[in-house]
Amino acid sequence: MTHEYAIQAEGLAKRFKETRALDGVDLVARTGTVLGLLGPNGAGKTTAVRIFATLLQPDAGRAEVAGHDVVREAGVVRSLVGLTGQYAAVDENLTGTENLLLIGRLLGMSRREAKARAAELLERFGLTGAAGRAVKTFSGGMRRRLDLAASLVGRPPILFLDEPTTGLDPRSRNEVWDMLRGLVAEGVTALLTTQYLNEADLLADRIVVIDKGRVIAEGTSDELKTQVGGQVLQLRPVRGHDLPTAHALVAQAAGPQTRIEGDLVTVPVNDPELMPAVVRRLDGAGVAVGELTLRRSSLDEVFLALTGRRTGPDGEGPGADAESGDRETEKAVSGS
Ligand SMILES: Nc1ncnc2c1ncn2[C@@H]1O[C@H](COP(=O)(O)OP(=O)(O)OP(=O)(O)O)[C@@H](O)[C@H]1O
Ligand SMILES: [Mg+2]
Repeated sequence: MTHEYAIQAEGLAKRFKETRALDGVDLVARTGTVLGLLGPNGAGKTTAVRIFATLLQPDAGRAEVAGHDVVREAGVVRSLVGLTGQYAAVDENLTGTENLLLIGRLLGMSRREAKARAAELLERFGLTGAAGRAVKTFSGGMRRRLDLAASLVGRPPILFLDEPTTGLDPRSRNEVWDMLRGLVAEGVTALLTTQYLNEADLLADRIVVIDKGRVIAEGTSDELKTQVGGQVLQLRPVRGHDLPTAHALVAQAAGPQTRIEGDLVTVPVNDPELMPAVVRRLDGAGVAVGELTLRRSSLDEVFLALTGRRTGPDGEGPGADAESGDRETEKAVSGS
């Protein structure tokens, strides 16, 4: 039986002493799609994944996988899900092949079946050459790939991928993305947690943004970009020394959020009338403009507007952008 939603949570809550890791989270993933679960460090992503994978019980609310309750029908749920954890779960001292064989046997496969499945997955993940080596000799990217392979041994129709590309170089990251795309093309449903906005942008059909255990936004990446208001006006003066003047003039028209980034003046805008006003001012002051663009906010800017924090490799965690904090956020959200 195919369920409309492969993954579903309602009012999901989990506390660790004083910490409300999840504080009433609702989310759904339609069967055959990728749901991106996006949030900064400590947002509650791993906690949610662990509940779905039956490794942790919620304090309140409910979670279902393919219509099965993760608490009351934990056994059924376990047979349906694969989990790639934030930290690789393969055994360091075993070889690649041995790791996959062990899992196949644990899943009740015959020795022959398990062997064939291991070989097939090692091939698919480009690990055939290293298959006979102990995992402790693998690079980070190889471990991640083996970990992903391990979660696929039982051909689970529903996958939980907890930051599967954190710490990978761009090439390995691309490989993981391709694998995920391939699986989804075969009908797999995936919940993908990530701190990389472009990853969610590229792979997820829908995105749920959580912060401090609560859902703060959700939609397609386009919807999120629109929801937060907006657009970004960018311009580059032809003469570099005009940059301060251009900055001042744009700020007069567009407000104090105007910033200089490299050789560009940028400002978030909600009013389409602003563009001609800016152009008139610059023209009046004799500032020649080489490049003038109005573009949709990036998902990164959306995240900043929603949480007051940047995320990803170059601005990790709370406080990285503390002073542009919460007041800015309220403005950006209520302004849309
Ligand atoms: N076993 C635990 N005991 C105590 N506190 C915990 C436990 N697991 C998680 N927490 C706390 O719950 C909150 C949510 O943690 P969680 O690991 O779900 O966040 P996350 O979104 O996965 O973060 P990250 O991006 O760093 O992986 C954090 O404040 C964390 O310290
Ligand atoms: Mg986590």
